Amino acid sequence: MSGLIPQDFIDDLIARADIVEVVGRRVPLKKAGREFKACCPFHDEKTPSFTVSPGKGFYHCFGCGAHGTAIGFLMEFDHMSFVEAIESLAGSMGVEVPRSESDKPARRYDELFSLMDTVAKHWQSAMKDTPAAVAYLKERGIDGATAKRFGIGYAADGWSNVLDKFGQSPEATERLLATGLIIRKDNGQHYDRFRDRIMFPIRDTRGRTIGFGGRIMGDGEPKYLNSPETVLFHKGRELYGLFEARKALRQIEQLVVVEGYMDVVALARHGIDFAVATLGTATTSEHLNNLFRLTENVHFCFDGDRAGKAAAWRALENALPQIREGRQIRFVFLPDGHDPDSFVNEHGADGFVDALDNGVALSEFLIEELASQVDMETVDGRARLAELARPLVHKIPTGVYRELLIESLAAAVGLTAPKLEKMIAGGAARTRDTTGRFAGADRKRRPPPGTGKPSVVRHAITIILNHPEAGQNLDAARLAGVNRPGADLLRALIETVHCEPNITTAGLLERWRQDEQGRHLGKLAAAVLPLDEEFDPAAELRECLDQLALAGRKERIDFLIEKQRLSGLSDDEKSELRALN
Ligand code: GTP
Ligand code: MN
Repeated sequence: MSGLIPQDFIDDLIARADIVEVVGRRVPLKKAGREFKACCPFHDEKTPSFTVSPGKGFYHCFGCGAHGTAIGFLMEFDHMSFVEAIESLAGSMGVEVPRSESDKPARRYDELFSLMDTVAKHWQSAMKDTPAAVAYLKERGIDGATAKRFGIGYAADGWSNVLDKFGQSPEATERLLATGLIIRKDNGQHYDRFRDRIMFPIRDTRGRTIGFGGRIMGDGEPKYLNSPETVLFHKGRELYGLFEARKALRQIEQLVVVEGYMDVVALARHGIDFAVATLGTATTSEHLNNLFRLTENVHFCFDGDRAGKAAAWRALENALPQIREGRQIRFVFLPDGHDPDSFVNEHGADGFVDALDNGVALSEFLIEELASQVDMETVDGRARLAELARPLVHKIPTGVYRELLIESLAAAVGLTAPKLEKMIAGGAARTRDTTGRFAGADRKRRPPPGTGKPSVVRHAITIILNHPEAGQNLDAARLAGVNRPGADLLRALIETVHCEPNITTAGLLERWRQDEQGRHLGKLAAAVLPLDEEFDPAAELRECLDQLALAGRKERIDFLIEKQRLSGLSDDEKSELRALN
């Protein structure tokens, strides 16, 4: 939440915003029943799976999972900040955004984008006048066309080239600072961040420059200097080369993730247009989201050394929750001492494509890597492997892929798949009986979370998100003793709809935008609930609450009885137990 803009204003704005109009102004929508459809603007598709629901004030893509409110749409599609999206929405509705405290104007993002663009162009043209920089690129095998395509430039040596040229007024200096192009000293003076470096502009998916990476031309530290995190630039989200790849390719069939700027550029120089790089960070789930929106086929290509393996493992861990049928994730390890840049220069595009074809599937990499950590010759070692695999398997959504992985794992440890599956589901401490089989696995236990029927809490949250009005007369206090995951969130949601009878689905989502749990709410809001007249959301909610309250009460009684047995109860607890019984 903004802190500056009053919450009730935001609630009201979202309730009144017409999501169909907001989206429809940017994406052509077709009416389909009570909703509207379009081809999803966030991933490539031919048949529309992007749905806008005016009732809920919410959009959702069944293809790539993108979803959100009118505010969320503006943030994603127009690359706005939260405050900017509020302002834009208010502007289009002709209302002024009230400010509770200082009346600071929101940062004018357009100006920041245009500044970045101007500086990128300036550095690009400086490149032409700097023979040493041109020679450096040439030496690294980059031709003029490729340099142009990536907008590669040169930042001249000196402490104030950018500052003098683009920081003529206090406002302009402020913008240079906000975009990370200059650095402020303790004494309040400024100097250029990038000096005597080859400059790689980092662009967002719409081609706007949001940051830079600068490479030193010879040896020296640091080899690469990147823009800091700014309002425009979030390293954990952006992929270098993605804009250029989308521009070059009509249809993205695959993407390969590499580690460096030069890797992307060198591959492109050799006609491999589908490489992208993370920006000196691990591959995050946001990166993966962006990748899978565009293609089902992703390769990770890392150096063959230990650091490369470690980076690959991080990528694997983050990719597990995103595994779906049809998605292919493969890992490619180049021979020691090579990175994609040096490899493609030595073996050409064909050699690189061969290397991609020889990549190992995610499941293979996972099993091989775990197997290398244990002694596969012994029963204990194989049991240990199963144990190491357990948390990883749990991250994979249930489905065919997970089944197949369990089968491969079972084969590796010499168990039947159902047996291993039970072990993995159980999370039981490993013990062995005299026959050498794993015991504990057969004990009956509850299914792991995420399988089978949705929990009562989850069901209740889904209903209240879809029908906020249905929660108005509920008593959140009834959930007081309930200790299940999500119960706090449910309680907070009930309290909110109680205090804000007019709040909409979208309004609730926006309230939880910054919240760790809020990320999951969008998915629940997109749930399709029965439309028939029999379905009474208020009654259903009441029933959920009854169940939870009852279970909570029972748990509390059990707890008190157990405590009485072990250590005795205080007077308060005694009377509580009497009241509960
Ligand atoms: P070249 O030596 O130009 O071929 O670069 P490279 O891409 O082979 O570099 P390397 O494999 O060393 O690094 C991969 C990526 O990590 C780079 O593209 C940068 O994003 C990042 N990186 C490398 N060195 C530094 C550094 O000194 N500082 C920072 N912040 N990032 C770096
Ligand atoms: Mn390199």
